[in-house]
Amino acid sequence: MSLVMNVSDGIVVIDAGQHLAAGTPAAIRSDPQVRRAYLGEAAVLSGQDAAQAMRPRKVPSDALREVLGVNALNAGYGAAPVLHDVALQVREGEVVALLGANGAGKSTLMRALSGLHRPLQGGITFDGVDLARLDAERIAAMGVVLVPEGRQVFPELSVLDNLRLGAFASGPLSHMEMIKRVESMLTRFPRLRERQHQRAGLLSGGEQQMLAIGRALMSNPRVLLLDEPSLGLAPKVIAELFASLEQLREASISILLVDQMAALALALADRGYVMEEGRVVASGPADELARDPALAQAYLGGQ
Ligand SMILES: Nc1ncnc2c1ncn2[C@@H]1O[C@H](COP(=O)(O)OP(=O)(O)O)[C@@H](O)[C@H]1O
Ligand SMILES: [Mg+2]
Repeated sequence: MSLVMNVSDGIVVIDAGQHLAAGTPAAIRSDPQVRRAYLGEAAVLSGQDAAQAMRPRKVPSDALREVLGVNALNAGYGAAPVLHDVALQVREGEVVALLGANGAGKSTLMRALSGLHRPLQGGITFDGVDLARLDAERIAAMGVVLVPEGRQVFPELSVLDNLRLGAFASGPLSHMEMIKRVESMLTRFPRLRERQHQRAGLLSGGEQQMLAIGRALMSNPRVLLLDEPSLGLAPKVIAELFASLEQLREASISILLVDQMAALALALADRGYVMEEGRVVASGPADELARDPALAQAYLGGQ
């Protein structure tokens, strides 16, 4: 985005097929509608959902124990470095937002955390155990589970079978335990109960996202890594999704949440980190970060 801002004399912004704004880079950067489109807005949450999602947490995060720690992490693809000395921390029961424009390196970090992409240097620890050299299967079994960008449910399998497959990440389990976990997911996501025998490929985008999250929860993870869960969903569905994420907090699962809807992610999160070109450029409590100029800059460029 910085690049576009720097090389353009004029910019036209479209959002969901609609003309949103036109003008100079400076005017575009400060246009309230553009900022809303890029940073997301708490306004998509309404009524009940808003009340649910905006509830502040009671325990100060500093008092909580670290579950996931990232230290001086460097990663890249071949000759191209992507992550530079990234450090972050997720504590017990926290929701932590990881924000930044397209291409900032968020998904690369999520993939490194889940063992799908081998970092070049640096440490990743889970409960004090070094994860950086473990394979993805082992990391999932230990309780760090990724819900990847683009949902990636198995379209030909039923909703139930998608859920059941998720349970295997934590190793074999008894028939009774399987039934219990499936039942608890269908209670957590009532829309999935209605469609339990349908092929997952026939579900709406929002239902597929809930299924992808439900599948990840089937292994009883300690840390859930959520990569862009709201991407491509309608505002009403996003509100419903975020309300169900809020309920996960009560289950004391720690969440690292990547989402383009920055304001919305910060409304849910306890703390957040902002990434720009592979570096963490700002971090702090969610309410402070929401007002930090570094956040708008990371999405819209400029100073
Ligand atoms: N498989 C890949 N091979 C080469 N480069 C990649 C690959 N995946 C991502 N990149 C590059 O890494 C950078 C960060 O990408 P990514 O982690 O997907 O960012 P984000 O999730 O923040 O949008 C981008 O410049 C992107 O082009
Ligand atoms: Mg990404």
